[in-house]
Amino acid sequence: MPGWIVPPPREPLKGRGELQREREEKVRWLVRHGFLRSERIKVAMLKVRREDFIPLLYRDYAYQEVPLPLPGESATISCPHSYPLFYEALGLDEGHRLLEVGLGSGYGAALAREIVGDSGLVVSLEIDPLTFDFARQNLAAVGYRDIVLVNADGGLGWPELAPYDRICVTAACPQVPPPLVEQLVPGGLLAAPVISAEGQDLVLVEKRETETSSRVVCQVLYVSLRGKFGEE
Ligand SMILES: C[S@@+](CC[C@H](N)C(=O)[O-])C[C@H]1O[C@@H](n2cnc3c(N)ncnc32)[C@H](O)[C@@H]1O
Repeated sequence: MPGWIVPPPREPLKGRGELQREREEKVRWLVRHGFLRSERIKVAMLKVRREDFIPLLYRDYAYQEVPLPLPGESATISCPHSYPLFYEALGLDEGHRLLEVGLGSGYGAALAREIVGDSGLVVSLEIDPLTFDFARQNLAAVGYRDIVLVNADGGLGWPELAPYDRICVTAACPQVPPPLVEQLVPGGLLAAPVISAEGQDLVLVEKRETETSSRVVCQVLYVSLRGKFGEE
């Protein structure tokens, strides 16, 4: 995990009550620092227990601003602020059809499921089979059975259920994979960390009827995208 100092693994000591207080404090912190504005995203972040998506030996660090390692090749659960950072930029809302590239722990998919509600759809793709199994078990254990989970190269998207209103890429790519833009509806938005000369930019792409536009939201730091549209 380049650039991040990951705390050492240790047996978990914190109980549910303590973690709930930390979750509530984290949400207040995200609001205070301007990461979290929408009520639906706030409600989702209060409801979904991040600790349920973290390997046991890192569970006590669930609400620290640090990505934590997951089973699989260089997979991480991103730091807490990155979820509202992406979902606010995307304007993720009730009824949206969301495609996530990089399921990781399943936490982002669970939050998205709460945000889009019963009238929306969440499809999440994960390339690493070990990470995929970890997320699938996490989501099943906490009762999310209506997220479409696919163990595949997310750079290719998932045309079977396209088009999508929103696409969220959670691994850094040299360029936004063209199949993902193709699978967006006109008027749809895509957020992705894109590798630049200085590091990585969170890029927001808007697809219109005849053209697409993009703008940089801020600098970010993500693990690299693998597969066809990855670095090698
Ligand atoms: C920062 S983590 C994702 C965090 C995740 N959203 C969560 O809530 O835990 C990035 C993930 O993208 C996955 N990944 C990398 N390249 C991929 C690809 N081409 N297709 C699908 N997943 C990919 C990695 O294995 C890793 O699990």
